[in-house]
Order: sequence, then structure tokens, then C-alpha cells
Amino acid sequence: MAKQTIEITVNGDRYEVAIDPWRSLAEVLREDLRLTGTKIGCNQGDCGACTVLINGRSVSSCLTLAVEAHQREVTTIEGLAKTPQELHPIQEAFVEKGAVQCGFCTGGMIMSAKHLLDKNPQPTELEIRQGLSGNLCRCTGYNKIVEAIGDAARRLNPAKEGQ
Ligand code: FES
Ligand code: FES
Repeated sequence: MAKQTIEITVNGDRYEVAIDPWRSLAEVLREDLRLTGTKIGCNQGDCGACTVLINGRSVSSCLTLAVEAHQREVTTIEGLAKTPQELHPIQEAFVEKGAVQCGFCTGGMIMSAKHLLDKNPQPTELEIRQGLSGNLCRCTGYNKIVEAIGDAARRLNPAKEGQ
């Protein structure tokens, strides 16, 4: 099958890549663009390790064809920190609350959290748990992840704290 050239913007950088049209976005991010923070766990939409944002919406990139991202804006875990020294508040909260163990799920968890907090800056614990319902973690037992996201919400909206 003929290769197809797609233009995608990933974390603010524009790329033009010639790819087989059947390849997933997760594969192209990892193998062609070398953005390996997006993990492939189940490769069938169950684990959430491959979660990225396309035009602000969270998707499982293992189930998304790379051609679907043509002329769209993709955000991956590599795009959250402003600099390697300056983590995004969600990343800081994960580190400080001990919400990372092996780390395999962490990028996908944080991208789902980003999507949730962009839509709902002050989620309840239930809403956080619902927001993570597509992400599996085999290490942490989830409670520290939920705490970290609550903490990140307070960091991102300090003025609203206590309302
Ligand atoms: S690798 Fe995509 S959902 Fe598991
Ligand atoms: S920290 Fe290991 S799978 Fe979540």
C-alpha cells in the first residue's frame, strides 16, 4: 500500500511524515518521532497507557490511526513540562504524592488528568475516579494518583481553594 504523507503538530512542533496508512498514532509517535513517553501496553484500548490529546480531546493513540491526526494538534506527555527543570503542576503533584511506581501507566494517567482538569478544574473525588476509568495501574492502588490529581487541581486553581 502506498505511503501517505501527514502533517501533524506535536507539542507545538510541526512534522511531515510519510507513513503506511494503517499505522497507529502511538507507533508513529514512538517510532518515527521518538516520543517514547507514550507507552503501548495492551494495544487494544483497555489500559490507557497510550493516552494523548488531539485538539484537546483525550484519545487512545493505539486505536487511533496516525492519518486521523493529519493537520491536528497532538499533545503528548513530553509536551506538558515547560522545561525539563520545570514540571507541569500535575507532574509535580504525582511526584510529591508518591503516585508513580514503575511509571508505565504514568504518562497516560497524567494526560487523562490534564484532559479532566481542562474540562473540570475542580473535580470531586468521584469525578477524578471517573476521569481515570480508562487508565489501568498495576502498582499504586490508585489512591495516591487520585490524591495527586486533587492536589494538582488546587495548584492550578489556587484562587478558588476553599470556596
Ligand atoms: S495501549 Fe492503548 S489503551 Fe492500552
Ligand atoms: S505505576 Fe506501575 S502501572 Fe502504574
